[in-house]
This record gives sequence, C-alpha cells and structure tokens, in this order.
Amino acid sequence: MIDRNNISSRKREHLKIAVSNNAKYQELTTGFENYRFVHCSLPEINFSDVYVATEFLGYNLSCPMIINPISGGEKNGKALNRDLAKIAARQKVALSLGSIRPALENTKTLETYQVVVDHTKNVPLIGNIGCLQLKNLDKYDQIFSIFEKLQADAISVHLNPLQEVLQPEGGTNFEGILESLEKFINNSDLPVIVKEVGFGMSSQVIQRLLDIGCEWIDISGSGGTNWARIEAKRITKAEERAVAREFGEWGISTAQSLINAHEYKKSRLIASGGLDSGIQFAKALALGADLGGIAGSVLRGWDENGAAGVDNLIENYRKVLKICLFSTGIRNIQDFCYNSDIIKEIE
Ligand SMILES: Cc1cc2nc3c(=O)[nH]c(=O)nc-3n(C[C@H](O)[C@H](O)[C@H](O)COP(=O)(O)O)c2cc1C
Repeated sequence: MIDRNNISSRKREHLKIAVSNNAKYQELTTGFENYRFVHCSLPEINFSDVYVATEFLGYNLSCPMIINPISGGEKNGKALNRDLAKIAARQKVALSLGSIRPALENTKTLETYQVVVDHTKNVPLIGNIGCLQLKNLDKYDQIFSIFEKLQADAISVHLNPLQEVLQPEGGTNFEGILESLEKFINNSDLPVIVKEVGFGMSSQVIQRLLDIGCEWIDISGSGGTNWARIEAKRITKAEERAVAREFGEWGISTAQSLINAHEYKKSRLIASGGLDSGIQFAKALALGADLGGIAGSVLRGWDENGAAGVDNLIENYRKVLKICLFSTGIRNIQDFCYNSDIIKEIE
C-alpha cells in the first residue's frame, strides 16, 4: 500500500516510472538534431594527444560530466547512491545526489545518502534541495548540517514549479522564491548551482538568477525526462491525469536553453535534459555548457545492466567526446566548449 503523503514512497514511485520510456518527451526533442559539427579532414593532431579532462570545484575530472540528482531518501536509493558514488570515483566524474528533503522530514533516511561519503573523496559531491524547502526559513542550520555530514562540495537547488503544480501532493506557492534563493546563496559557504528539472530556462530566468549572484546554472532543458508525464502516471483521478498529460510536451529544449544563455556567457553553465548519447553530450558542450549532466540515461543504464551499464555509458560518452574533438580539429576540451566555429545550425 502506497502512503501518498510519505515523501520516501513518492520517491520510490518516481524512480519506478522514470526508468520507463513513458517518462520521456515523445515529440519535443533536445533540439541538438538542428546542429551539426563542422567536420575537419585535416586535424593535424595525434589522437592520443586529445584531452577531454577538466577541472570542477577544485577536482580533476576525466571529462566535463556530472551524474545529475536522481536518488536518495527511499530504500532502493541507498543501493543506487552507493553504486553511483563508486562509479563516479572510478570514472572520475562529479556526482550530485537527489534532494535531501526526505532526510529533513525523517533523519533515518540520511543513511541512504551517507553511503556515498567513503567513495567520493576524490570527486566533487553535490547535495540537492528544492527551492520550496528554502522558502520562509530564517535559518538553514538543519540543511547545512546535512550537507556537512555528506561532505558536499557544492549545493544544487532545483526549481520545479510545473512539477509541483501537477503533483497531487505538490507545493504551489512560489511567491518570493527568488528572494529566498538570494538569501540562501548569500548564507551558503558552498557554491550554489540553481537547476531546472527538465523544462528548460528562458533568457529572462537566466538573467534573474545571475542578478541575484547565482554562480552556476544548470539549464536542464526539455527533450529527456518529463516530469508532467511522470506525475500523470501517479495521478489516480482521471480528470487530474488528463490535465497533467497536457504538459507532456511542455518546455524549452536543452539546445534552446543553452542558446538563451549565450548573451550571458561568462556565466558558468551546466547542460542537462536528454543527453542520451555521446554526441548530444558533445553538442551541449560545444553550444556553451561547461559540463554536461545526465540523469535518465544513468537510471536506465543502471536498471538494465547495474553498475556495469553506467560504467559503459560514461566510457562511451567520453570516447565519443574525444573523437568529436579530434574530428573538429580541437586538442583540448577548453577550446571545444562554447566554440561556434565547430558547430553550426542546419540551414
Ligand atoms: C528519478 C529521477 C529523480 C530526480 N530527482 C531529482 C532531484 O531530487 N533533484 C533535482 O534537482 N533533480 C532531480 N531529477 C531531475 C534530473 O536531475 C534532471 O535535471 C532531469 O531529469 C533532466 O535530465 P535527463 O533528461 O538526463 O533525465 C530527477 C530525475 C529523475 C529521472
């Protein structure tokens, strides 16, 4: 029997639905198919000299990749988080944990996140919380103390108004969110990343986040996981389900969200949302992202083939990225990211 008001039960349902293809956009795409790399037949580079390694939050990464927030707070989340931490350490990529909201409501669930700590000493670990959980708080002691226990290197805060408004148990008062975000950023000793959850960001939203001093933004665009579809699967009342389904193709694509950020370049950008292949990962970087985030594809890889499935996925993305550098005549990842000479919109 599912207890709908219990956040851990809800997280378990989300995980179960998210692994199915029903959780993905069916028509709206990432927009990356509208861009092609400019092939270079004369790279003048030894492939073995091509470097995709980078630095993030003071750590060396094998490539600019974050495993984006997926899990924590429910039973299965413990095994998943432990595996993801070991994978992140093996592959030298950053790891972001799922929202700590369940741990705020029930401290026993903290262990589902803490399992990562022994494994993530040499890679960046990012803690996550929803913007609604920050609202109306005078102090953030409880939140900061959880992130301290997790030895987090940064905190990401998710903006998910559409998901919340469609979710049967969701919060719907987003008045004052920007002000509370600003306060949180000013109070945090750790860098703060503000992220969407797969509906993308307009230039106006990006501008407003930069205006309050937001250091990192994950535009998390549409084309991959779709939360309207996930919530629709959970809704039991037919009328409410029909409403949620109407938003199954809503959002700003990942490519368009990156373009929206172009005028603010010098902001530090993460791109996620439907990076379901190595080429899409590479295109996101060339179009302006400093790092690419993957969630749905990681979850599906883990569900199908366990940790080996995720290891294979990351190795494939890294190899494809390296070949993209070679085939566009670029030696270092720093020259590849945000480079309009090597990627063009199809006329
Ligand atoms: C099962 C699942 C749980 C998620 N939980 C969180 C979360 O707790 N916090 C968050 O910021 N994003 C969460 N996300 C959103 C992802 O981090 C990501 O922004 C979004 O799914 C788009 O990326 P994708 O298309 O690669 O899945 C979750 C995604 C999935 C699939």
